[in-house]
Amino acid sequence: MRLSPGAGAAAWMWCALALVVPGLARADDAALVARGKALFTTVTPACAVCHTLQAAGSAGQVGPVLDELKPDAARVLRALHSGLGVMPSYAEQLSEADMRALAVFVSHSTGGAPLAR
Ligand code: HEC
Repeated sequence: MRLSPGAGAAAWMWCALALVVPGLARADDAALVARGKALFTTVTPACAVCHTLQAAGSAGQVGPVLDELKPDAARVLRALHSGLGVMPSYAEQLSEADMRALAVFVSHSTGGAPLAR
């Protein structure tokens, strides 16, 4: 029943956020960022395999260096939904909430613009 402290706290915050403020969630909310960070290395295929992103400790060389690209969240979401070149679409395996978490994490950690609303 007990997860690792970090995962437990993040999951708890995520649930609380979803329950309490569905429409008001700040786009850069810490729980979303934490969830996106976890997904970045655990989703299959992992973003980390192909992308370099300092905040995730990854050094992939296949796709653009996200620290340099500084994509805004909408751009990340588009790539996740539709795929791009060699990059597969994640729409089949990830929920909308998970894709948003990834978009928030990548834009937040690189300085790209956050999600509108
Ligand atoms: C198999 C390697 C691979 C994986 C896995 C991968 N990407 Fe990519 N990604 C690429 C490549 C290659 C491009 C550049 C595609 C192009 O411009 O033709 C790209 C482009 C992007 C872009 C820029 C989109 C744009 O509009 O230019 C973002 C943001 C991105 N990836 C995020 C992610 C995230 C987040 C994940 C994990 C959910 C991920 N990528 C997984 C290879 C990958």
